[in-house]
Amino acid sequence: MSFDKKYVVWALGYLAAGICLGIFMAATHNHGQFPTHAHINLIGFLLSFGYGIIHKLWLGQPNPTLAKIQFIVHQAATVTIIAGLFLLYGNFVPEAQLDPILGIAAISVLASALLMLYMVLKTNTVKT
Ligand code: HEM
Ligand code: HEM
Repeated sequence: MSFDKKYVVWALGYLAAGICLGIFMAATHNHGQFPTHAHINLIGFLLSFGYGIIHKLWLGQPNPTLAKIQFIVHQAATVTIIAGLFLLYGNFVPEAQLDPILGIAAISVLASALLMLYMVLKTNTVKT
């Protein structure tokens, strides 16, 4: 599967999960997980969808190894952040234990964004 399609498939998966959590919060009148919901939708859906569009429109033939690393780092970091925020805002695990994991995952989200920037800058091909 091409990277643009992989990203869109993951994006829509996050969207479904994020909306489920949104509906759950609305139905239970317990909005305690709203930062988790917001970041499933924003880091998960929005960023993945954006990266899919960038692959489709701007990256002609990206270096396959770089593209693979960028994809894996973004998805691994996103899933870690979502799990970490869920455990944090559900009061399942103390903040002190989650902080280092969330910190590494947050820096990884940044690293994958910078890697995408690098790939865009390195691309000369204009897709039509
Ligand atoms: C049927 C779909 C959805 C439902 C039922 C839903 C429900 C909710 C609820 C109950 C809250 C908590 C509000 C609060 O306590 O302040 C919330 C917050 C939020 N939602 Fe959703 N949501 C849905 C879809 C989405 C989507 C698609 C996105 C983004 C692409 C999104 C982004 C956010 C954000 C950013 C917040 C935090 C807003 C703030 O800072 O107060 N939601 N949502
Ligand atoms: C790894 C990257 C990110 C980190 C570490 C991060 C961290 C945070 C933190 C600590 C908050 C305050 C949560 C609270 O209310 O207690 C927050 C809120 C928010 N962030 Fe992020 N964020 C990240 C990425 C993003 C992205 C990519 C977007 C949008 C595309 C975004 C949109 C928002 C919004 C709308 C809020 C307000 C809703 C809320 O409080 O949950 N964030 N973020």
